[in-house]
Amino acid sequence: MTGSTLSGNKVRKLEFSLADTLDKKCDTIFTSCGGIQSNHCKSTAVAARQLGLDCYLFLRMVERQSTESKGLRKPLNKLVGSQIIVVPQLQYKSGLKQMMEKISEKLKEQGSSAYLIEVGGSSYMGMCSYLAAFQEMIDQNVLENFDDIVVTVGSGGSASGIAIDNYLT
Ligand SMILES: Cc1ncc(COP(=O)(O)O)c(C=O)c1O
Repeated sequence: MTGSTLSGNKVRKLEFSLADTLDKKCDTIFTSCGGIQSNHCKSTAVAARQLGLDCYLFLRMVERQSTESKGLRKPLNKLVGSQIIVVPQLQYKSGLKQMMEKISEKLKEQGSSAYLIEVGGSSYMGMCSYLAAFQEMIDQNVLENFDDIVVTVGSGGSASGIAIDNYLT
């Protein structure tokens, strides 16, 4: 969170998926990623606002919110003007797609067009950004000095992009 509200590993994914959003002439982003503390959702909300896009965050309701989520990310999401939809646990598992489709239809009637960024930004586009990340490591000769790459895994897009490019190269 230092120096930028676009934190962690999400910026790379957003660079690709938001480019695709603009290419497809969509003006609204839908995304989700588990609980209210989601780093992905916060980063998406900020990046969408920077591009003048509306953003709907579908967040899973959790029984006990952490201090961090209460104190930091939710207000930040609100501050950048995203729509926060808190979805009950059960509906999050089985009814999220339907809920998104319903809102998307409503927006369509109002002349808007929604683009879905998959959970955690790990769509095809998001994964492609980590093919590019691996390529950067090659170009910068980083890999000559190491045998292994250690990467955190949430929704899997970062790891799969790196693994695929490792395989391909
Ligand atoms: C800072 C940070 N690093 C890494 C990850 C994991 O990335 P991925 O969702 O691509 O597996 C996440 C998301 O969960 C994250 O917020």
